[in-house]
Amino acid sequence: MRLFQALCLLTGDTTAVLAQGLPPGAYTPPAANFTQKLNHGSNDGITFQQLYQLDTSNFKPGGPILFHQGEEGPMKPIASKVFSDYAPKLGGIVATLEHRFFGTSYPHGTSWDNTTTAQYSPLTLDNVLQDSVAFVKWLKKTIPGAGSSKVIISGGSYGGFLATQARIRHPDKFYGALALSPPLTSFGASATIEDNPYKFAVQDWMANVFWDANAEAALKIKNALSGLWDCIQASTCPTAMSEFDLCTPPTSSIDWLMLLQSVIMNQYRLMTQYNFGSDDTYPANPLALVVNATLKARTTGQVLRIKNDRTGTSWGYISCAWFVQSAVATSPDNSLFPPFSINSSVTGCGQITEWAGYSYNQTNAEWVDNFNLTDKALDRVSRLLITHGSYDSTAAIGMPHLTSSSNRNHSCAILVTGMAHRENQSPEAVLPRGVRPQVD
Ligand SMILES: *[C@@H]1O[C@H](CO)[C@@H](O)[C@H](O)[C@H]1NC(C)=O
Ligand SMILES: *[C@@H]1O[C@H](CO)[C@@H](O)[C@H](O)[C@H]1NC(C)=O
Ligand SMILES: *[C@@H]1O[C@H](CO)[C@@H](O)[C@H](O)[C@H]1NC(C)=O
Ligand SMILES: *[C@@H]1O[C@H](CO)[C@@H](O)[C@H](O)[C@H]1NC(C)=O
Ligand SMILES: *[C@@H]1O[C@H](CO)[C@@H](O)[C@H](O)[C@H]1NC(C)=O
Ligand SMILES: *[C@@H]1O[C@H](CO)[C@@H](O)[C@H](O)[C@H]1NC(C)=O
Ligand SMILES: *[C@@H]1O[C@H](CO)[C@@H](O)[C@H](O)[C@H]1NC(C)=O
Repeated sequence: MRLFQALCLLTGDTTAVLAQGLPPGAYTPPAANFTQKLNHGSNDGITFQQLYQLDTSNFKPGGPILFHQGEEGPMKPIASKVFSDYAPKLGGIVATLEHRFFGTSYPHGTSWDNTTTAQYSPLTLDNVLQDSVAFVKWLKKTIPGAGSSKVIISGGSYGGFLATQARIRHPDKFYGALALSPPLTSFGASATIEDNPYKFAVQDWMANVFWDANAEAALKIKNALSGLWDCIQASTCPTAMSEFDLCTPPTSSIDWLMLLQSVIMNQYRLMTQYNFGSDDTYPANPLALVVNATLKARTTGQVLRIKNDRTGTSWGYISCAWFVQSAVATSPDNSLFPPFSINSSVTGCGQITEWAGYSYNQTNAEWVDNFNLTDKALDRVSRLLITHGSYDSTAAIGMPHLTSSSNRNHSCAILVTGMAHRENQSPEAVLPRGVRPQVD
């Protein structure tokens, strides 16, 4: 709580408003509700209204169903997804479904700001995937000419993880999957390098992005962070960091440490990972903005004061209960970042430890195995295309190494230089050709 107060000047909080859903006018064609079972695999008859959007204007009978998997947050319009570029060429249907417990897709009696732990129990990976299975089954049944259409599922980031899981767990329902920057490694709360090597590589990746972007700015960031690190060690931050100008400065070293973690993980990581040419949630070219602001900054405080980000409650539950994806890291010597680590649990769990699932403390290897995401397991999944971007320090680390094959059904994973986290999710209407040649 104190941390959030301390950071209030650094944040712009639009999440709370958006969490309730986008205005109806945001969707063309209009969005509608699908009556979905709350507990798949049960006959309890309980349903909820799940928002979806459907565009059949390009559909030619037999064409594919291009299904964009909803991710955490309110459903984004399908016109903002790359499948809207494919539909005219393929004669396909484009459809998307809001992730349960986001936007307006809350079960009866629950809401974006007020859902109890017991009410969250239907928020499981299995139910999330079954929502998509039920929805595409309904599309095939109700749209004339779509009965034998192949379904290709796509998703970005966590949605890319879901698309991967959909292809692995429901291969007969989803003919192929396009997973854009899916986090497929670095799971679990464990804090040792033996248990979670990827977690410890994040800062090195970030450091390289900054050194490559501008060495002078990188050096200023390194010095500012080491100044903050030093004052934490010496318990002198309130005076040493007075020009940081926080509304409520932290009072203890652990809070300053939390602030350091927040500064590092939520500013520098996000500004590189989401280094878009255009996106609705981030400014254009955040990495260049950070570099420019850093070059101009005169004090440590000015260097460290850069925009921050937050996420909502249902996402907190998911990232604690069954998608414990961790980016907290310790940095080795000579990197940009101080050698710190917060050895407690994953940030997603916050104070609500009762959300933690049975596998919470498993090692990274166990998580990767549970999700069938080892290189060997992924190599057996056909028609799965995984793309990653070189600016993306968390999702791209530990990306799968798949064997190459001349068989066109064989899956593959590619790393795109100069691309941000799921940046290739944008269609040409949003990101015209030539603006970011690396994405074309
Ligand atoms: C869908 O259902 C939710 C919850 O019942 C409701 O708030 C929302 O307005 C509905 N949306 C549409 C487009 O019908
Ligand atoms: C939150 O849920 C509780 C229990 O269902 C209810 O009493 C309370 O009025 C709700 N608060 C809001 C703001 O919806
Ligand atoms: C996933 O892995 C488990 C155990 O490793 C295995 O039993 C299961 O068949 C796998 N599922 C798929 C769809 O590959
Ligand atoms: C950063 O500064 C350079 C050089 O002054 C300028 O060309 C560029 O437009 C700036 N970029 C941003 C995002 O402000
Ligand atoms: C985290 O653990 C490592 C080794 O286990 C230790 O050296 C380090 O001081 C710990 N960091 C914190 C903040 O407790
Ligand atoms: C995870 O491990 C920590 C430290 O051993 C323990 O306090 C916590 O209860 C464990 N959580 C779960 C969900 O098992
Ligand atoms: C790819 O898979 C489809 C469906 O199983 C099959 O019809 C096709 O022959 C396969 N193509 C190749 C090159 O193996």
